[in-house]
Amino acid sequence: MKPSECESSSANLFYVTTPIFYVNDTPHLGHAYTTVAGDVLSRWHRQRGERVLYLTGTDEHGQKIMRAAESKGVTPQEWCDTLVNESWKPLWQHLEIANDDFIRTTQARHTVRVQEFVQDLYDKEQIYKGSYEGPYCVGCEEYKLPGELLDGGAEFAGQKLCPVHKRPVEILSEDNYFFKLSEFGGKLLAHYEANPDFIQPESARNEVVNFVRQGLQDLSISRSTFNWGITVPWDEKHVIYVWVDALLNYATAAGYNEDPEKFEATFPADVHLVGKDILRFHAVIWPAMLMAQGLPLPGRIFGHGWLMVGGEKMSKSNLTGIKPQDLTSHFGVDAYRWYFLRAITFGQDGSFSWEDFSARYTSELANDYGNLASRVAAMIGKYFDGTLPAATADGAAEKAIHDSLLKAVATADSRMGDKLDFQGGILAVFDFIKQVNGYISEQEPWNVAKDKSEEGTARLATILYTAAESLRAVAVLLNAVMPESSQKLWDSLGAEASLGALADQHVQEAATWGQLPTGATVTKGAALFPRLDDSAQA
Ligand code: ME8
Ligand code: MG
Repeated sequence: MKPSECESSSANLFYVTTPIFYVNDTPHLGHAYTTVAGDVLSRWHRQRGERVLYLTGTDEHGQKIMRAAESKGVTPQEWCDTLVNESWKPLWQHLEIANDDFIRTTQARHTVRVQEFVQDLYDKEQIYKGSYEGPYCVGCEEYKLPGELLDGGAEFAGQKLCPVHKRPVEILSEDNYFFKLSEFGGKLLAHYEANPDFIQPESARNEVVNFVRQGLQDLSISRSTFNWGITVPWDEKHVIYVWVDALLNYATAAGYNEDPEKFEATFPADVHLVGKDILRFHAVIWPAMLMAQGLPLPGRIFGHGWLMVGGEKMSKSNLTGIKPQDLTSHFGVDAYRWYFLRAITFGQDGSFSWEDFSARYTSELANDYGNLASRVAAMIGKYFDGTLPAATADGAAEKAIHDSLLKAVATADSRMGDKLDFQGGILAVFDFIKQVNGYISEQEPWNVAKDKSEEGTARLATILYTAAESLRAVAVLLNAVMPESSQKLWDSLGAEASLGALADQHVQEAATWGQLPTGATVTKGAALFPRLDDSAQA
């Protein structure tokens, strides 16, 4: 059951996760941000020809969910079922999220494994009984240290507030079971040291290292004042702390204690994508839990930044008022997937604005990219009856395009697939699009078309072949980010007939020149990115 301890990431399956989100409410732009990023990353790796497991899901236990359900007068399970089926899963489907699995912490495949894992730790004397009193934030589902609390003002005058939720903490006092987290500080620091990429970006890594250096306290891993959770197997008066329950989803979905072959091929995750709000759980508690079991640690924990509203983290209690669906109905799903990754450096905070989205949509998607695709298809229609001509007169300008494409592919592959620099990866492709636009402006195919000599026709054919073949590569490179428009472009180039399905095209080979065959049927379909209807602005 135990993969070799020195192995730090799985050999034959690329395993990517999002946090499993609390279903106390409907998903918002922040949840979609992580989930789209994970989808782009996993699609990219599939297009490298790798086998991928992309996992998302929902975190359904704990006091926060219990209280949400109580306030609506339904059972927690009913509450979760309704939200998962009517809000969460439909949104992921709408956003074209191609997750391979969806785990819910109330599923038996999870609850049984969590009990086994915790029992095993108890048997290994990594868990003991004690008592604890301290400030607890239900929003975070976490005991806070007195030193990190804020003094409340106005309505909360005289109270201590959670630094994340800015709401009063509750003083809890309970007999609990504790995990000996304090014993893992040194081993964790050694792991961070030996694996500099374990926590990214750099700012996240520094935060965690400084936190662990201050010394770790043992972790309360059970609660006894409410019962919406997984029962502690040796003491039925307790339920397992919701974070221990939640973190284990990454193991249970990979087949822990259930499917050794799958577990061996999948676990640990190559990348855990999380917001920086939950970095410590993933970079401190989770690896310590794995160390305590002798299980291998994940390859990388990437703590991305926050979407901000009015200078604060956007959250369920602090929303923009704009839902993902409001944006997709105006800009389309593809543009939505593209915008947040394009506009915000992954790892940094960013704020969203309707105006910025509109401006980028129009200049980058509609003008630079969409117009290029439609102009090229229109010219092949007009001058060659929609049949892709052969390039027989390549010169310096064409050579420059081939070289730029090679560079664009290498940059996009390393940024998008390895560094999780989605912005850099997207920009590499859009810079290439700009170059192809520049190439067409300079070559002026509409003027070359007036020269009816054999030489003139050969030049015209070469220019249009070069442009179409460039677009073939663009469709391959943008498919992970914008699958719908990429497919439209693929269809318009008549590529499927000779090259097969778009999703099967390997990104590493996107720069191999001359893949579109002469004679392919090129058609000018509907605009990839239609003009925005500005009267619809919210
Ligand atoms: O923390 N900007 O669930 P959660 C960017 N159940 N991303 C944001 C965001 C924002 N303003 N707001 C939320 C939990 N997110 C636990 C996780 S995992 C074992 C358990 C995203 O519903 C981001 O990924 O509070 C953040 O980490 C996550 O939603 C928190 O979701
Ligand atoms: Mg949260």
